[in-house]
Amino acid sequence: MPSPHNSLFTMVMVVVLTLCVTSNSSAGANNQARRSASSYSAGQGTAAGSSLHTELALTPPMGWNSWNAFEKEIDEDKIKAIADAMVSSGMRDASYMYLVLDDAWMASDRDRDGRLAADPKKFPSGMKAIGDYIHSKGLKFGIYEDRGHLTCQQLPGSFRHERIDMETFAQWGVDYIKMDSCFAESNGRMSSEDYAIYRRHIQATGRPIVLSISDFGNAAWAWGGKESAQLWRTSGDIYPWMDSVYHCADTSAGDQSIHPAFNGLWQFAGPGHWNDPDMLQVGNLKDTDEDRKEIADRAHFSLWCILAAPLMAGNDLRTMSDKVRDVLTAPELIAVNQDVRGIQGYKVYDDGDREVYNKPLSDGTTAVLLLNKGREKADITVQWDKIGLSGSQPVRDLWARKDLGEFEDSFTARDLGRHEHKMIKVGRTGPPLPIPATMPLEKYTVTRKGATYLSDLYYIWKAGSAPIYDATYGGGPMSIAGQTFKKGLGCKSKCAVMFKVDGRADRFQAIAAMDKSSNENAEGRFRAYNEDFFANKVLWDSGKMTRHSPAKEIDIELRDVQCLMLVFDGKDVLGNWADARVISEGD
Ligand code: GAL
Repeated sequence: MPSPHNSLFTMVMVVVLTLCVTSNSSAGANNQARRSASSYSAGQGTAAGSSLHTELALTPPMGWNSWNAFEKEIDEDKIKAIADAMVSSGMRDASYMYLVLDDAWMASDRDRDGRLAADPKKFPSGMKAIGDYIHSKGLKFGIYEDRGHLTCQQLPGSFRHERIDMETFAQWGVDYIKMDSCFAESNGRMSSEDYAIYRRHIQATGRPIVLSISDFGNAAWAWGGKESAQLWRTSGDIYPWMDSVYHCADTSAGDQSIHPAFNGLWQFAGPGHWNDPDMLQVGNLKDTDEDRKEIADRAHFSLWCILAAPLMAGNDLRTMSDKVRDVLTAPELIAVNQDVRGIQGYKVYDDGDREVYNKPLSDGTTAVLLLNKGREKADITVQWDKIGLSGSQPVRDLWARKDLGEFEDSFTARDLGRHEHKMIKVGRTGPPLPIPATMPLEKYTVTRKGATYLSDLYYIWKAGSAPIYDATYGGGPMSIAGQTFKKGLGCKSKCAVMFKVDGRADRFQAIAAMDKSSNENAEGRFRAYNEDFFANKVLWDSGKMTRHSPAKEIDIELRDVQCLMLVFDGKDVLGNWADARVISEGD
């Protein structure tokens, strides 16, 4: 993130940041969508105020975005050449529809009427013209903006221009908006409020436009992103190295951003709303030897396909090698990603290095990824009973496009080196296989009257280190001034967790104290927020505390709080939210 942020936000985010032939039916749906989008003009479409156009993203959006390849260096000629290459390379026919211009397309000033304008040097013909060109190629036109007063590249953002900007985009023929979040922390609005505003203004234009939430992974799945948008980021920015690729994948598939009990974010994705671990770096990866690049590219692509992630290519299509093109357009991989059942694949095995993912498909078969992330060679097995099957099952290798035969009870991918994997399809066509039960509501939100201890709920978002439940971060009993507490959250700075209370909690009560193990002068600070960092709606603030500060008792009213975020901040210190609970006074 290149922009200056509010310091707490930056600190927490830095921690977070360390680091498909389309099935006949979906190809048909995409072609249909392509035809209607290119013949569309602003002012037509569904009535203003109608609900979100989920039908625009019944399968994960596919396209190309300028950022990973070019960053700020975009211009009319380059973008036209990319549009041409999307067609000539076969990307468009493989369902890559959206050509999205990321940051730095705009002039540094709005025009006299307050409208955004194209950078006159980079896009002398203007944005409508570039949109027309993109449409003339049978593609759809995507554009970037930011909900702060500036974009991440410090160009005019849409804050206080929400309506005029959405109208302008509709007039230019925009089909997809990536709405970023740099500088949004000074808007005074929560993310849920901000994105709802954009959704309303988009709806009012009458043009069907996909809205992509770019908020560095700040819990859109928790605060209701799907009411406003078809996709939302689950991660910070992706970089062209495999650690970053794996980190981003794990924000969606692992416990980087949610309590481990959820087994990733799969239950929050589905037709019309998708988790987005960021754009593809296929073709850009820098940290692998030349002869192993294809292996890494394939691992990255297989992960995005099995995770039903939006497939937004980010490489220079004008100079793409055949190898890279073959990865990006692999028909049987794209078919897994675009499967109309829309299940996000989830892990069925993970020992830190070796992982197995399962994605049950609409035709009764299931796609399985067996991936070795480790340095040691490994055999990786998937047992049929872990993916809802038994007995003898046919297996097909989706990269090789070859049937491998029948396998009894399990399949083993042998001798997999680093980043090597097998992406297979298992089973026979028939009724769809069952999927695991989603997390029951009572496990992560308030469902009854009286007190609900937060340590009896699973947090729905986290950044930094996760809290320890019912003990100090060191694992000892939580004791404050001689009193021991059975319930609570033991934190190590920096620790931010969000609990989904769904407006059902009337009070938040807890006792906040630094752990007595903290160093003499080490400082920590406890804060409770309404939703996320963006609005900076601090509900309670301990101020700086040391281990000598008396414990602070919290008893505050919560009004219409959907998500309660608890943050413990400091440097290598431990703090305890003892007896942390919400009280529901109603029925
Ligand atoms: C980041 C965003 C990137 C890219 C960049 C442009 O905040 O996550 O995907 O859009 O801004 O400045």
